[in-house]
Amino acid sequence: MCQSRIGLQLKPKVYVSRIIPEPGMSLLYENCDVTLHAERDIPPSRAEMLSKSKDVEGVLVLLTERVDREFLDNASRLKVVSTFSVGLDHIDMVYATKKGIIVTHTPDVLTEATADFTFALLLASARRVAEGDRFVRSGQWNKPWSPYLLVGYDVHNSTLGIVGMGRIGKAVARRGLGFGMRVIYFDRKGPNAELEKDMGIHYCDFDTLLRTSDVVSVHLPLDEKSRHRFGDREFSMMKQSAVFVNASRGAIVDSFALYSALKRGKIFSAGLDVFEQEPLDQQSPLLSLENVVLAPHLGSASIQARSKMSGLAATNLIDALNGKMPKALANKEVLSRT
Ligand code: GLV
Repeated sequence: MCQSRIGLQLKPKVYVSRIIPEPGMSLLYENCDVTLHAERDIPPSRAEMLSKSKDVEGVLVLLTERVDREFLDNASRLKVVSTFSVGLDHIDMVYATKKGIIVTHTPDVLTEATADFTFALLLASARRVAEGDRFVRSGQWNKPWSPYLLVGYDVHNSTLGIVGMGRIGKAVARRGLGFGMRVIYFDRKGPNAELEKDMGIHYCDFDTLLRTSDVVSVHLPLDEKSRHRFGDREFSMMKQSAVFVNASRGAIVDSFALYSALKRGKIFSAGLDVFEQEPLDQQSPLLSLENVVLAPHLGSASIQARSKMSGLAATNLIDALNGKMPKALANKEVLSRT
């Protein structure tokens, strides 16, 4: 851990790559000498990132900032990287750890909000909520009630297949059970007997999950093993009535394979909060499809979750810079190096 600053007057110099919600900014200004990229919606340029972090001991970044080898080598006094996200795929964790740099993130505080949003996408995709909204707004609702209009698939009594049974996967499983779904799951770590007993859910292998689920919901971190985990093979194994939901990371899915499965009716619909390229390209063929619900990466976007993420990201940074164990350390192995 970093050396204690008790007794020192100087505040640690930090670079913050965006104005984050309260209470984070106040905590940072009270405890640090802050250089801020004073924008709410626009990330800093790479050149700014490199120049402003050159002499700082800590940085607070968002998932839009690439913390790679070049960045870590350039910031030669850097001790702590705090990210305002649970995902860590924008950070070279191996290299940061090798350099003895502490990395912290914001797990737990966004779990329930992200699970809520996953369920919103699930319900909207199965029951065609967004299509219904477009139908009404565009003036197409010009005939009386019909038993055939925009019919979807039942959510209750269906099988929810969760890929990745981490914190968010479990929170989605709980919601599924509450909606009367049968829940099955696949996890790289294998079955978890205690969880199965507690929740009444069942482990199955990946292919069986794809073949038997009515809804497939992805909750994997993005890494080399999960990149393009869903492609033509996987979509062709799913039921024709299947709903696919992704609120984790876009690159876990081969977007062209998904587009093609949706277009050719190989699966029923999809709810997507994340994309290989964000923001989604205005030329993306996904935009031409009716059977996909698209959201601009809103999983943790509740007032409450964002405020807790902000407090946690700021406190993680301040604690680590002051030699205290940060609440959400992402690279525990770094402790044996410092
Ligand atoms: C959002 O995607 C996050 O990683 O916090």
